Amino acid sequence: MKQVGILLSGRGSNFLALSDAMEAGDIPARIALVVSNKPNAPGLKHAEERNYKAICIPSAGIEREAYDRQVVKEMQAAQVDIVCLAGFMRLLSTWFVQQYPLRILNIHPSLLPAFPGLHAQREALEWGVKVSGCTVHFVDQELDHGPILLQHAVPVLDDDTEETLSARILQHEHQIYPEALKLVCEERVRVEGRRVLTS
Ligand code: GRF
Repeated sequence: MKQVGILLSGRGSNFLALSDAMEAGDIPARIALVVSNKPNAPGLKHAEERNYKAICIPSAGIEREAYDRQVVKEMQAAQVDIVCLAGFMRLLSTWFVQQYPLRILNIHPSLLPAFPGLHAQREALEWGVKVSGCTVHFVDQELDHGPILLQHAVPVLDDDTEETLSARILQHEHQIYPEALKLVCEERVRVEGRRVLTS
């Protein structure tokens, strides 16, 4: 049974999808700790409602690595094996990434390497791509950059707005994130360079 730590900043719907899959017994893991960097993140409230250990470590005004050291201290105290970023709106420091090599996952609402960053769905629409989607990847020190675990393609429709496209992509985020975490927890993943091979 792996111990999972969740980092979030906002709504927390991906966190809830991961939680649902673990509670249903689909993934051999449990949530050991939820950390928000925002005191009023709805995700933090959901975590409390589900009786997880949930804390806020405010990030405002704190230097990146100093902040990450506070977070990792809590993750270690909770014996976290795998960290899932679930709408965590901060870049991790190299130091943080080194503490959990190939043990930090992120979900991003585009088919990476297209449209990294904060406004992936809007940029996909503006670019005029016909297909976008979502990506679960290992986290490294660059934004939305590490080796890719799973992707799911979502067609862009002529009448899509940022909201409708985001909502359709989100449904698939909630499916592939638990699938990817399951692969990692079951140790069915091997990384060769940038390629993630599964068994
Ligand atoms: C999702 O679109 C995710 O892909 C991105 O941030 C958003 C978080 O949404 N990284 P939620 O907080 O999980 O609902």
